[in-house]
Amino acid sequence: MMTSMTSMTVIGLGKMGSALIQGVLATEIFEVDKIIGCDVEAKEMKFDCRMIKTITDNKKGVELAEIVLLAVKPQIIHQVLQEIKSVIAGKLVVSVAAGVTIDYLESELPSSCRIVRAMPNIPILVNAGISAITPGKRATKEDVEIVKNILGGVGETIVVKEELMNAVTGLSGSGPAYISLMIEALADGGVLTGLSRELSLRLAAQTMIGTAKMIIETGIHPGELKDMVASPGGTTIKGIEVLEQHGLRGILIEAVKKATEQAKELNADTDDSK
Ligand SMILES: NC(=O)c1ccc[n+]([C@@H]2O[C@H](COP(=O)([O-])OP(=O)(O)OC[C@H]3O[C@@H](n4cnc5c(N)ncnc54)[C@H](OP(=O)(O)O)[C@@H]3O)[C@@H](O)[C@H]2O)c1
Repeated sequence: MMTSMTSMTVIGLGKMGSALIQGVLATEIFEVDKIIGCDVEAKEMKFDCRMIKTITDNKKGVELAEIVLLAVKPQIIHQVLQEIKSVIAGKLVVSVAAGVTIDYLESELPSSCRIVRAMPNIPILVNAGISAITPGKRATKEDVEIVKNILGGVGETIVVKEELMNAVTGLSGSGPAYISLMIEALADGGVLTGLSRELSLRLAAQTMIGTAKMIIETGIHPGELKDMVASPGGTTIKGIEVLEQHGLRGILIEAVKKATEQAKELNADTDDSK
């Protein structure tokens, strides 16, 4: 699945930047030598035993590619935009920075840039991510298709209105951390009751995958699925009683709310630096 644009520079080779490069290369959208990674330190990155070109000069990286993917922390987006704005005219710019708005990016970059804001999540590393994208006003339909191809190659992609991006960040962007905590805690429960750590983790993680798969593939409501497992006077309802007593649902709802608020805060911070 090739796009009409054949080269991409990723600025910021941390967790998300390198996951995106690895994921996208696995899908063969770009040739290995058409991807450039930029970071403050020259990092070694390999794909199928072939080295990915990494450099420390963001400006040069931008000059060399048709698509620029910004994967630095929101707090340093302003600094990076100042550095690259003189060489980025006419390019497709994709930002995955949490809370950084299209308005802000458009105001900082030349008017000929086409911008797409995206919020992927870390399971893109195993082609099981989910990314929300919002096109800026100058992004074309083809740009949206290109970004869909890039992120769609490493999971599912949905187009949302920008006003929903902070909530997406708080749910699916941060979500892998919440789910990991739950898997770890369930595995601790298994260890507490005598299972090995390895077996407990396997049981907990596969139970998450299987349950999620059932909900997605059959469309069953989670409440109905829960009722299918919890028989009268049985083991599951005992466990559910404990989860409800300790407010599991309320805690998860509050976590998504607080993470969404934090994404809004980051947005206000970058706007302040204008
Ligand atoms: N992690 C996730 O699950 C996730 C999910 C969705 C969206 N995002 C977004 O993805 C972006 C990156 O997050 P992350 O978790 O990947 O962060 P990260 O691991 O800290 O990666 C950021 C990378 O950028 C480098 N960097 C710092 N200053 C730079 C500069 N001036 N030029 C080029 N590179 C520079 C950092 O180097 P140093 O470490 O040496 O500073 C680091 O390698 C953020 O905006 C975040 O909101 C992340």
